[in-house]
Amino acid sequence: MNSFEIRKKFLKFFANQDHQIIPSASLIPENDPTVLFTTAGMHPLVPFLMGEKHPAGRRLASIQPCIRTGDIDQVGDNVHHTFFEMLGNWSLGDYFKKEAIEFSFDFLTNKKWLNLDRNKMAVSVFAGDNDAPQDKETKKIWLSLGFPEERIKELTKKNNWWGPAGQTGPCGPDTEMFYWTGTEKAPKEFNPENSKWMEIWNNVFMEYFKNNQGKYKTLTQKNVDTGMGLERTLAVLNNLSDNYQTDVFLPIIKKIEELSGKKYDDYKKEFRIIADHLKAATFIIGDKYEIKPSNSGQGYVIRRLLRSSIRYGKKLGLPDKFLIKLIPKIVEIYGETYSYIKERENYIINIIDHEEEKFEKTLEKGLKEFEKGKNAFILYTTYGFPIELTMEIAKEKGVFIDLEKFNNELKKHQELSRTASVGMFKGGLADSGEKAVCYHTATHLLLAALRQVLGSHVYQRGSNINVERLRFDFSHSNKMTEQQIKEVEEIVNQKIKDNIPIICQEMSLEEAKNKNIMGVFENKYGQRVKIYAIGNFSQEICGGPHAKKTSALGNFKIIKEESSSAGTRRIKAKLL
Ligand code: SER
Repeated sequence: MNSFEIRKKFLKFFANQDHQIIPSASLIPENDPTVLFTTAGMHPLVPFLMGEKHPAGRRLASIQPCIRTGDIDQVGDNVHHTFFEMLGNWSLGDYFKKEAIEFSFDFLTNKKWLNLDRNKMAVSVFAGDNDAPQDKETKKIWLSLGFPEERIKELTKKNNWWGPAGQTGPCGPDTEMFYWTGTEKAPKEFNPENSKWMEIWNNVFMEYFKNNQGKYKTLTQKNVDTGMGLERTLAVLNNLSDNYQTDVFLPIIKKIEELSGKKYDDYKKEFRIIADHLKAATFIIGDKYEIKPSNSGQGYVIRRLLRSSIRYGKKLGLPDKFLIKLIPKIVEIYGETYSYIKERENYIINIIDHEEEKFEKTLEKGLKEFEKGKNAFILYTTYGFPIELTMEIAKEKGVFIDLEKFNNELKKHQELSRTASVGMFKGGLADSGEKAVCYHTATHLLLAALRQVLGSHVYQRGSNINVERLRFDFSHSNKMTEQQIKEVEEIVNQKIKDNIPIICQEMSLEEAKNKNIMGVFENKYGQRVKIYAIGNFSQEICGGPHAKKTSALGNFKIIKEESSSAGTRRIKAKLL
């Protein structure tokens, strides 16, 4: 059975059971800013799992392309992918456990459908904990279908609970179906630790909602959310030892063999990473949002996927620009099912071509420097070598990279540019000196206000001042809402209005640390440090100089809030 047949069969089976087939959604979630990608078929359905009426009814089925970057380091084994397709069916407050399990079991084992051997199946059910009781009903249903007790395992939340997809949302206990993939006879007893038991389908009984306090509340309706991994199921159905031998991978693998003159069997990891990563990047670029490689958010994921593929390509001795030669194979595999991939083929090739070219240059230089023993920080600042890549190479070569040191150096580097710009105003632009000093003070107020509004995860990541504006980078992942921006402005302006004197005090670094005073750059200042305090509102270790009183600042206005890089936001603000 190939991928076209399994997709068709799945949708037909559920259409026969009165399910409406819904189109797959974008890879970029439209309603959930807490995640970068659609990670499961249920993602676009969250409002409907919570009770909103779905226009297509209460029984739905779809095939959903998904991206999961959480497992990215495991890609290279035989089953983990960053891109995969999920076959799913849903009940929005319609049927529940019994029908859901019977549908799955029938589809998997009935001769008319997948005709898998029921003697090679095993299942897991939820064991229960403080948040939700043991799922006795599910166990009973499996027993009633003739499953022997030894093939049913009760597992805890870590294994048998799914969701929410983001930080909050619908979730619930699940029952997972496994299939024996060993060549020897399936053992009598199911041992979930044995990887020859391959998980192929997950039925989630979504009757809970996890809120932002981490508490589980029951939903107004009992839903079913299922997801079957297309690649895994295809491999199982065709008795293949790994997903990369199925028709959704084989044409890419064959093309890499042709281009490299090497055999897949001898270089599985490299082949797999290239095929998986390029597929994921192709789908993200081809998505309707037309995301391009960049240094933040989804664009950064594309960049990372492509850069990693290129590097593994080098190991196989693949020629420059090999990625774009593989794209037509991806289009061959998916063009019929996802027509946008075919329609945007040239566009995708152009974007990847450009990125490939850019990275070839970086890589060549960076690798040479790595061999010369340059440290991660120099590779990053001077050669634009991404830290993740340095980490990957270092791991392979058994070299230890001190990530903490890297981060510290990065911060110091940013502080130096901040001090340099302040210094520049002091010396070179005498008239503007006062304005720059005011912006410096405003930067301290801004940081304190951001921490008050967004939370204590906010730290300075970089700062730059000129006579026109301040620019401030800080650790925070999500775009700020208009309300949050307004709040920050109001707090800063209130502090300006309060006309607070700025007090400078000297103390030992030790004492400053004990007082928990903010100052990520303390190394630079030696043992005695200067602390600038603006009332109780802000205290920072800082070289100065600062305004004498906050009233000198004028009116504070945020003119832009944007992403700076992954996990870092940037604000530009003016004093008017
Ligand atoms: N949401 C569940 C999963 O991803 C079932 O689709 O496994």
